[in-house]
Amino acid sequence: MSVGTTLPAGIDLSTVRAHTPGCAEVIHFNNAGAALPPKVVTDAVLQYTAHEALIGGYEAAEAAADTIRSTYDALATLLGAEAHQIALVENATRAWDMAFYGLPLERGDRILTCRSEYASNFLAYLQVRRHRGVVVDVIPDNEYGEVDTDAAARLLDDDVKLISITHVPTNGGLVNPAAAIGQLARSAGCYYLLDACQSVGQMPIDVAAIGCDFLSSTGRKFLRGPRGTGFLYASERALSEVEPPFIDGRAATWTGTDTFEIRSDARRFENWEFNCATRIGLGVAARYAAGIGLESIWQRVQSLASRLRARLREIPGITVCDRGRTQCGIVTFLGHGIGPEALKAALARRRINVSVSDAAWTRIDMDARGIPALVRASVHYYNSEEEVDAFAAAVAALLGKRGATPPE
Ligand SMILES: Cc1ncc(COP(=O)(O)O)c(C=O)c1O
Repeated sequence: MSVGTTLPAGIDLSTVRAHTPGCAEVIHFNNAGAALPPKVVTDAVLQYTAHEALIGGYEAAEAAADTIRSTYDALATLLGAEAHQIALVENATRAWDMAFYGLPLERGDRILTCRSEYASNFLAYLQVRRHRGVVVDVIPDNEYGEVDTDAAARLLDDDVKLISITHVPTNGGLVNPAAAIGQLARSAGCYYLLDACQSVGQMPIDVAAIGCDFLSSTGRKFLRGPRGTGFLYASERALSEVEPPFIDGRAATWTGTDTFEIRSDARRFENWEFNCATRIGLGVAARYAAGIGLESIWQRVQSLASRLRARLREIPGITVCDRGRTQCGIVTFLGHGIGPEALKAALARRRINVSVSDAAWTRIDMDARGIPALVRASVHYYNSEEEVDAFAAAVAALLGKRGATPPE
């Protein structure tokens, strides 16, 4: 991967930066936390909120019904799905929960997951293990730190009812082989749930190619949408077989005193009340991303992240921790002689945003690598090469100040 400047077709850096007011304020390398939204997104949210205040919440929703509906189309287009296969919820975790807790898992059934699984997902496995007696098996990593597809194949048997993995782990730059795992799930006939919280918006996603039954994601990260938005894709099989774990007046109709009917589309996984403004903003974000082009976004994100890793590797005392053969916009590292929180705080004083990924969020992987926490610098296509270089210079200066020496 070259570390030079790459501006793929579809991305005019000065334009996308001008669309993003936050670019003038900070070097934002916390896109895996929440990206800076383009102004069109915040404008849409603010305008709708103002309208709501003027004419009433229900009345504004009615007036904007087509726009609100268009968010389903925009997300479906982004994922290669149909609008009726999309549910809009509050965050990625709730999207994931609605799929997972709805699955008919019983005593003795096996769940296969990955070593870099996100904490909230793993907590759910542990809870279901406690209450329903399911077995949770962790697929080993291959030598690159990715889910080992051969090992996964060996673990498959008739008891495996679910393969549930994270596409891009929260704590590193690798991309798990989602489509290869999808092939295994299809051959075994088990359900496949993919946590794509960190991948949607930074790379092209095609649910048909991946072959998942469910895919959960969020609005605020690489998709650059508003906070408090999440969504779930459900395959036709999932829609015909999986009931939501709880229902309300959106998910179902009370057809008679003792009867109800669950709706047939993915909105069975939603609940009635929602924030119309952020839902509209999410649609705008999805269309904005599609307008730039996910292929172009992916190329640029990879190129910037690769440059960042290269620059960091030049600094004595920095260890870049990312694994994986395909690497994305998440760059993780450790500084010798300065802890992740101290580094984050020192960078924040220079108006540079990063986050710290603590072991508790990906315990199996982090414990195995003996890493209590690491610095996570996550780039997006609107970041510039100059920002990457300034970031590396700031890190070098901070380490220099501490008199850091390279680790043995
Ligand atoms: C891999 C992964 N899955 C799920 C989540 C949870 O997303 P949300 O906060 O939108 O529920 C995160 C958040 O950082 C994540 O990194």
